[in-house]
Amino acid sequence: EKGGYPHYMLKEIMEQPRVLYETYTGLMSSRELEKAAEILASADHIFVTGAGTSYHAGLVFAYFMARIARRPVITFISSEYLAYRSLDHSNSALVAISQSGETIDTLQAVRSFKSSGGRVVAVSNVVGSTIPRESDTTVYTRAGPEIGVAATKTFLTQVLALTSIALALAVHTGSLTKAEYTEAMRELRNASHAASSGIDRSIRLVELLASSLRSKNNIYVLGRGLGVPLAYEAALKIKEVSYIHAEAYPAGESKHGPIALVEEEFPVIFVGVPPEDELLEKLQSNVMEMKARGASTIVIGTSSYRELEGVDFYIDVGNYSEILAPYAVVPPFQLLAYKLAVMLNRDPDKPRNLAKTVTVE
Ligand code: M6R
Repeated sequence: EKGGYPHYMLKEIMEQPRVLYETYTGLMSSRELEKAAEILASADHIFVTGAGTSYHAGLVFAYFMARIARRPVITFISSEYLAYRSLDHSNSALVAISQSGETIDTLQAVRSFKSSGGRVVAVSNVVGSTIPRESDTTVYTRAGPEIGVAATKTFLTQVLALTSIALALAVHTGSLTKAEYTEAMRELRNASHAASSGIDRSIRLVELLASSLRSKNNIYVLGRGLGVPLAYEAALKIKEVSYIHAEAYPAGESKHGPIALVEEEFPVIFVGVPPEDELLEKLQSNVMEMKARGASTIVIGTSSYRELEGVDFYIDVGNYSEILAPYAVVPPFQLLAYKLAVMLNRDPDKPRNLAKTVTVE
């Protein structure tokens, strides 16, 4: 049932091109996006929540909502809903992201929000699960069952669904013209190709990278802009399946504390995403400040980042626009986490101490 793969995690990483395509066609042939856009358009305040990987997808959503729909979004981790509990939510909307639809923290955020008058748009992979049932509308990912504890294909399908919601809202409110919307949706159809390219261009290199990282105790994963939530997700994947401590933070924060840990050979992975004309130069100085302390510098990014100097190891995922970049950039990180786990004799499908669905607080 693993389709010839040694682990579900690998099977699910490799399935991404197909399930992205299925999610895309599902969204295009349903009214889910319109319904979500209607709810969001009528709200004065928009919140987004989730736990773990789903929260990271929420951060990507907030990024595209600001960039494309020009709407600020308040992001919070679902177990932290208490901070917003006493607000009047009658003019607010919450986007609640949960692959399983059963995560207790996210469900409680939904219930708390509803009880103070808010409307809820769920994003889920499981039809008929609790969070969709208690929400006003649901946008479904069509990733199929995910057996591996580590979320892989569900993350990128969430990103696809959420980016589509941001685009649907943008056309609904006039931030995008009908023609611009059609063009952007047509572009998103290539999410599937971007994922194939991310996999194909990295599968061999990741092996080399994993053998040089397997003996490390710590890894930093740094990005800017859209690269920040992708870095968080990369670090979560690495730590949960390989048990190597990986920490992600926005690259600009190094000087504000974390660079104190960096010494000879400390591995720092940079996530390189568009818009390159705004980010490349800044990332270059972050690479240099790490290099100056003897760090091993690694870049996983779009082809434009080839220009960076002082990089020891580079995985070029191809050149993609901002809305397509996540699909190309994320698979190499998933493969890296997987390879590290296998090399270190850890079962990537069943990381210790973790359950696929967390139904206790
Ligand atoms: O089912 P959910 O999306 O609500 O699950 C939330 C988290 O428990 C989940 O994303 C978790 O962080 C991942 N399995 C980690 O890979």
